[in-house]
Amino acid sequence: MIKKIMAANWKMHKTWDEAVQTAREVVVGIGEDLPPDREVVFFPSGTALKAVGESINGQNGYFLGGQNFYPAAQGAYTGEISPLQLADAGCAYALVGHSERRHVLGEKDDFLAEKVIFGLSSNLKIILCIGETIDQRRQDRVEGVLAAQLQKGLEKIDQNVSAHDLVIAYEPVWAIGTGETATEDDILQAHGFIRKMLKDLLNQGQEIRVLYGGSVKPDNCARIIALDNVDGVLVGGASLKADSFSRIVLA
Ligand code: PGA
Repeated sequence: MIKKIMAANWKMHKTWDEAVQTAREVVVGIGEDLPPDREVVFFPSGTALKAVGESINGQNGYFLGGQNFYPAAQGAYTGEISPLQLADAGCAYALVGHSERRHVLGEKDDFLAEKVIFGLSSNLKIILCIGETIDQRRQDRVEGVLAAQLQKGLEKIDQNVSAHDLVIAYEPVWAIGTGETATEDDILQAHGFIRKMLKDLLNQGQEIRVLYGGSVKPDNCARIIALDNVDGVLVGGASLKADSFSRIVLA
């Protein structure tokens, strides 16, 4: 069964004890109700990884992820964290190319491609985030931008990558943290296009999970998750409170 991913990206929020408490509240609040076709991934800050990992350890369907890493096993990279260190802290997943890494930290596609390949070879499941800015959408360049980000981001990976290890997140930049969600048509169109690209690039069109992110909330999640080609959601703001994120997970 291909499980839908319900991911909480806490960005640079929460002390470690707040992170542990939120994760616990989600796990306890959902209890036995976690649908068998869904899995939950928490992406806390680096300082809280180990503690959150320990708090969900042994809970079926719950996983830990790193928000970022540097594509090397170790070395003189002050301030960075390696995929091996993420795995050591208990991570199964890692994000690559989140819009804030691309647009605030200036990470470029060729660097992201290195992260994708290095992360996969370090046994992490990689969620590659892609998405257009509002100007690119207004200029009718959505498909061109998504195609380029996918092509470049996946350029170094082996065609035989296990579909279970690679996930794509479509996150229109203009919908992130703005309260403005993409319309159902926008999502259908983008996800359909991403599927087709994955088939062309990797011959794995159907198996690779494609998530939607951008102002997902408890009251719009059920509609989004039911759309064709939507295999989960990546949630920022609405994942910070246990109650709100639990409602999303169960939507
Ligand atoms: P948002 O963030 O849910 O607050 O829009 C999504 C994300 O950044 O992944």
